[in-house]
Amino acid sequence: MYNFTIPSTLKAYFDHLAIAGETFQYTSEGPEGLLKNLNASVIIASGGDYTQPPYSAMDHAGPYIEAFLSFLGITVEQIYVAPGTAGEAKEQSIAKAKQAIAANFSD
Ligand SMILES: Cc1cc2nc3c(=O)[nH]c(=O)nc-3n(C[C@H](O)[C@H](O)[C@H](O)COP(=O)(O)O)c2cc1C
Repeated sequence: MYNFTIPSTLKAYFDHLAIAGETFQYTSEGPEGLLKNLNASVIIASGGDYTQPPYSAMDHAGPYIEAFLSFLGITVEQIYVAPGTAGEAKEQSIAKAKQAIAANFSD
């Protein structure tokens, strides 16, 4: 998370992905994502913790990424978070996120 949203480099990448007629299309019923065969898992590290109110209202990274990928037709399976990397809980937070990821990807 950079300044409550995604880093500008990731935003630039997203801007190159959203191509009308290629990755999404406009229809009479509204926009339609064309990447319907793709699933995504998202991992977000943040210096602070935005998992609970009132701070969750300041999280414009997770909801934005989910909205954008869904717009392209991609199914967002899970968003993993490692909050509080700026504080003492950094190592614990990263370890917990890694554990959650490993648990979901083990057979
Ligand atoms: C330019 C910049 C902006 C940041 N903005 C936020 C922020 O708004 N909220 C937050 O909790 N952490 C913020 N951080 C801290 C990062 O989210 C945190 O260090 C995270 O672990 C970065 O992951 P990375 O080291 O893999 O890039 C910011 C860091 C940088 C460099």
